[in-house]
Amino acid sequence: MTLFTDLALAPADPILGMTDLFLADPRAQKANLGVGVYQDESGKLPLMQSVRQASDILAADPKPYNYLPIDGDAAYDAAVVKQVLGADHPAVTGGLAVSVQTLGGSGALKVGGDFLHGIGATTVLLSDPSWDNHAAILGGAGLKVGYYRYYDAANRCVDFGGMLDDLRAAEPGTVVVLHGCCHNPTGYDLTRDQWDQVLDVVEDKRLVPFIDMAYQGLAESPEKDAYAIREAARRGLPAFCANSFSKVFGLYGERVGGLTLITASPDEAKRVRSQVKLRVRANYSSPPTHGAAIVHTILESAELTSLWTDEVATMRDRIKAMRAGLADGLRAAGVSADVSYITTQRGMFSYSGLTRDQMLRLREEFGVYGVENGRLCMAALNHANLPLVINAIATVMG
Ligand code: LMR
Repeated sequence: MTLFTDLALAPADPILGMTDLFLADPRAQKANLGVGVYQDESGKLPLMQSVRQASDILAADPKPYNYLPIDGDAAYDAAVVKQVLGADHPAVTGGLAVSVQTLGGSGALKVGGDFLHGIGATTVLLSDPSWDNHAAILGGAGLKVGYYRYYDAANRCVDFGGMLDDLRAAEPGTVVVLHGCCHNPTGYDLTRDQWDQVLDVVEDKRLVPFIDMAYQGLAESPEKDAYAIREAARRGLPAFCANSFSKVFGLYGERVGGLTLITASPDEAKRVRSQVKLRVRANYSSPPTHGAAIVHTILESAELTSLWTDEVATMRDRIKAMRAGLADGLRAAGVSADVSYITTQRGMFSYSGLTRDQMLRLREEFGVYGVENGRLCMAALNHANLPLVINAIATVMG
């Protein structure tokens, strides 16, 4: 007998596990549409020019890697708050917003979840469906996880009536995770009018909005995609926002993101920051330096910000072109079902509606890897793998 004799083998991660299977697949013709990683036309994760130039600036003046403060580099935190809310937002100019550097968006969810649990929150509602890891992270913070209706499979849209009804039925103080843009996994976003209605219910029922904004810039623009958190903050709601620079700066492995909280006064902001720092310290002590320095170097330079903005627009347009290519290709391959949903959805993902069995066929017969819930990463399509993917999907759709 050892300590681990009876230990079960854990199941593979439904998203990251796909990359392991993909890499182990010896076929030359294959496509990894599982994990949400942007790839360029050559099928590679690009090193963005803005990131390269910022790295060069940092490399020209190397600094020792001391510990950062628990809540991160102050200049980075100031850049995050402006990126999330806009420099002129009253919550920023009034000193009501608190931003803390975190280990990607996931770290922000965990630190925010721990903080909320510590101040008495008991329940969190996620969209049905949501990113798989939301339940694990926020459940791991001690919150009871429930769901509100979101996806209407029959009509391929947001079940907006169901969503509002479920939010109206929630107890005051319930935390509600809302996807700021590029809903993961469905790709169906709320309109501005729908956001206003959701925030009306959140305000009326005194719910706590926790906006996950991992794709700011990949739907319309960095400004427009931040509508939900900016409007929540404008209304003075005690809103939380987890933002990530993994996708939009291509800094996946640097684990760089932020947790932004909206408070009612500068004094409250000071107390909130002090408490959030306790949560960071108890989780991972303090955040890492390099990725945050890259983001901060870009965002404090008008020239690099402008370059980055153009690069994000290029990514966004390429994803849209690939969506159109897939939809057109499926039609040309004789698929009679309506595939216009592919171009209606936004961001990296398309919720294909394919069953688990169909997704397994994609993988086993064609080497096309997607998440078993039917999610396919549109940001990993290119003109070279598109024919393979079109043929595979057309075949399993019958
Ligand atoms: C995804 O949804 O594919 C990404 O957010 C990567 C991850 O960690 O799951």
